[in-house]
Amino acid sequence: MTEKNSSTSKKNLQKILITSALPYANGPLHFGHIAGAYLPADCCARYQRQKGNDVLYVCGSDEYGVAVALSAEIAGRTPQEHVDIFHEINRNFFKKLRISFDHYSRTTCESHKQPVYSYFNDLFENGFIEGHVTDQLFSEVDNRFLADRYVVGTCPKCKYENARGDECTKCGASYEAMDLIDPRSKLTNAPLIKKETKHWFIMLDKFKTKLTEWIESKNWKPNVVNFTKEYIKDLRPRAITRDAKWGLPVPLPDAEDKVLYVWFDAPIGYISASMEWAKIQGDDDKWKKYWCDPDTKLIQFIGKDNIPFHAVIFPAMTMGQNQPFKLVDELPANEFYNLEGKQFSKSEGWYIDLDDFFAKYTTDQIRYTIAANAPENQDSEFTWKDFQSRCNAELLGKYGNLVNRVLVFAEKNCEGKIPAKRELEDVDRNFLKVIHMLAKEIASSYETFKLRRASQLIMELAQEGNTYFNSKCPWKDAKMVDTFGRMETTVHCCLECLKILAITSYPIIPDTADQLWSFLGYNSDLSKVNWDEAIQSSLEGGRPLSKCHILFKKLEDEEIQIEIDKLYSMKSG
Ligand code: 2FM
Ligand code: ZN
Repeated sequence: MTEKNSSTSKKNLQKILITSALPYANGPLHFGHIAGAYLPADCCARYQRQKGNDVLYVCGSDEYGVAVALSAEIAGRTPQEHVDIFHEINRNFFKKLRISFDHYSRTTCESHKQPVYSYFNDLFENGFIEGHVTDQLFSEVDNRFLADRYVVGTCPKCKYENARGDECTKCGASYEAMDLIDPRSKLTNAPLIKKETKHWFIMLDKFKTKLTEWIESKNWKPNVVNFTKEYIKDLRPRAITRDAKWGLPVPLPDAEDKVLYVWFDAPIGYISASMEWAKIQGDDDKWKKYWCDPDTKLIQFIGKDNIPFHAVIFPAMTMGQNQPFKLVDELPANEFYNLEGKQFSKSEGWYIDLDDFFAKYTTDQIRYTIAANAPENQDSEFTWKDFQSRCNAELLGKYGNLVNRVLVFAEKNCEGKIPAKRELEDVDRNFLKVIHMLAKEIASSYETFKLRRASQLIMELAQEGNTYFNSKCPWKDAKMVDTFGRMETTVHCCLECLKILAITSYPIIPDTADQLWSFLGYNSDLSKVNWDEAIQSSLEGGRPLSKCHILFKKLEDEEIQIEIDKLYSMKSG
């Protein structure tokens, strides 16, 4: 099978830069995060590589910020110790989930400073950052200013009394901590006073016209575009410094004890991760090939809570600095993915123990379950019952069943080789036409970030194979000499279906697809096989198949009930 670097696939090579939101390194990740910004990005990266495009997929840990400092303080660690721990935990989680980053970096790495300071200095010199003396919340008990995450109070919009310092978890409003009614310390509950201090602001209002024009050209999901347009209407200067110790120091003489706001440095982490990747590749400037070429397509995967930063604030920062960096082209922001009707929350005991999970289930079972029910247009949820039904009825019942019955049949009746395709009947021609059409539709679903649709079509493809196999009854044809050729044609067409199944399911269930690929007797690495060439090329009659084994095991009602009971008992515990 042809590999992706062949001359034909190089012709239309498109550079695609993919990013997933940098996760905070202050707690373990869960499937909710995976559904939002990581699995969809990984499927996109895998698909685009299969199409022969030139993909760079980067991410890294978001390690500064008051939230991290606060968690570290509560855990009795220094912030650096804290992020070192969670950087590793989260990196391993991504590995387990087979998220195929080209590079996973971290914002405390040395190479992050230069691009952050370059953004800051350019924006400052270009008049887009201004210093102003403002009132901030000060704790007389601790004798220090308290940044937003240390503050709780009443939401200025919906009057919820336990609103966070930067946003309200109830109504979603985002504001400055100073706007809270009756602000108090999150740590001591002491009331806070207002006191003067100097801070630096990015003058977002100066980008209003440019942003408004730019957003017009975007064909993003309606919720992303509508949210962004609303947000742009009321753009005000936004503080990008904090009175804190943990963070990158503000590079100005009169800014002692002040650090950059985490949302200023974090998105620049996409660039510094790419720079670090280039260094590792032994070509320090290679990252520019992606970030500085207008022909690159920049696709940023995020959860909906990150829309303002990726659709407005980071683009404004990029417009106001001097390097020719790409602005985001596609912003497939997902909604939230919950657990049995509520948000995942380790502290509230509403979570899935991941070590336990992976001891019993496979990465592809969870990847498929999330993809098939991805929160693309509305919130969705993981339920154990849905997991069981996706694994049993779809992965095992449709996909695994087809793979097993065709390969076992071929082993027994075709000497374990791909039989030749003999004379085609209408039923065969029709089947081949349908499965090739499905392959096209699956490709277009990946192109447009529709994982739910792609998952559904993959199962339709498997089901077409099952129906065709049943309707042709090859076990009857195998018994007689004059129908033996008909049986061989049926098996050949079914193997064609399995080949398409392996290629098209690879972005979502890569381990399974790899196994299927090797069952079909291929030695090539499926990740490097060109999508179009492999789908179009014919199977060679006479080539040996490999021995197959069962791909998915059945999940019994009892074991799923145990998981459900465990979830509810952890909650009450
Ligand atoms: O919401 C979050 O988890 C942030 N750490 C996302 C940062 S994305 C990027 F801009 F760095
Ligand atoms: Zn509110």
